Amino acid sequence: MARVLEVQGVSKRFLGLLALKEVSLHLEEGEILAVIGPNGAGKSTLLNVISGLLRPDGGEVRLLGRPITRLSPEARTHLGLGRAFQIVQPLPELSVRENLLVGALFGKPGTSKKAAEAWVEEVLALTGLEARAEAPAGELTLLEDKRLELARALATRPRVLLLDEVMAGLRPKEAEEAVALVRRIRDSGVSVLFIEHLMPVVRALADRVVVLDHGEVIAEGPYEKVAREERVREAYLGRGA
Ligand SMILES: Nc1ncnc2c1ncn2[C@@H]1O[C@H](COP(=O)(O)OP(=O)(O)O)[C@@H](O)[C@H]1O
Ligand SMILES: [Mg+2]
Repeated sequence: MARVLEVQGVSKRFLGLLALKEVSLHLEEGEILAVIGPNGAGKSTLLNVISGLLRPDGGEVRLLGRPITRLSPEARTHLGLGRAFQIVQPLPELSVRENLLVGALFGKPGTSKKAAEAWVEEVLALTGLEARAEAPAGELTLLEDKRLELARALATRPRVLLLDEVMAGLRPKEAEEAVALVRRIRDSGVSVLFIEHLMPVVRALADRVVVLDHGEVIAEGPYEKVAREERVREAYLGRGA
């Protein structure tokens, strides 16, 4: 299987704090990978380095075999890296459809308006937002907000999608729906790397799990395997997370 995303020996320092210590991991084509770990483990920092919001002090990030470590976030989006945030940031005055059209037009330069419009209709269908296509993005429910955030990321036609705690705040039933949606996204051909602290979501969704603690990878494998590991249990218990 092809590695669509590779992180090799990435380190990131904030003043005196080494937030990432030579972190290496990869994402296979068609895979759903969870990155978990206690608060402060370095998960968001890792996602920011992958998406280009932060420059690492060492190491390399590759997307579809190509080094992207020195590229801007926009350039990474154009190459097929999508990202959805925990805090949803749509343009509230624009309709759901218009928000997606913005993503579809700017995510891939050179996309015609016609192609972008057609793709937006597919994204609306995939994310279950067709009925809300005309609604102003500022007037959605929390669950619809999450759907829109995923839809906005999808609108840019990513090959790899990064999700940073997108299920936060959802009730269990809603989280189940969001899990099903992420599976549909994967089945449509997008590989997914997600950060999540809700363990039922991790267990239900992840093909494989990487555990970070104090900026280091301390375990890797199927959920059932890593959840049993002493080092992982200690990392969580030790900080009451
Ligand atoms: N911009 C920043 N400046 C200084 N320290 C930061 C910054 N961002 C994160 N940190 C620190 O880096 C460590 C990892 O943070 P983070 O990646 O947010 O962890 P997680 O997402 O796993 O909770 C924490 O100790 C945090 O306080
Ligand atoms: Mg975080």
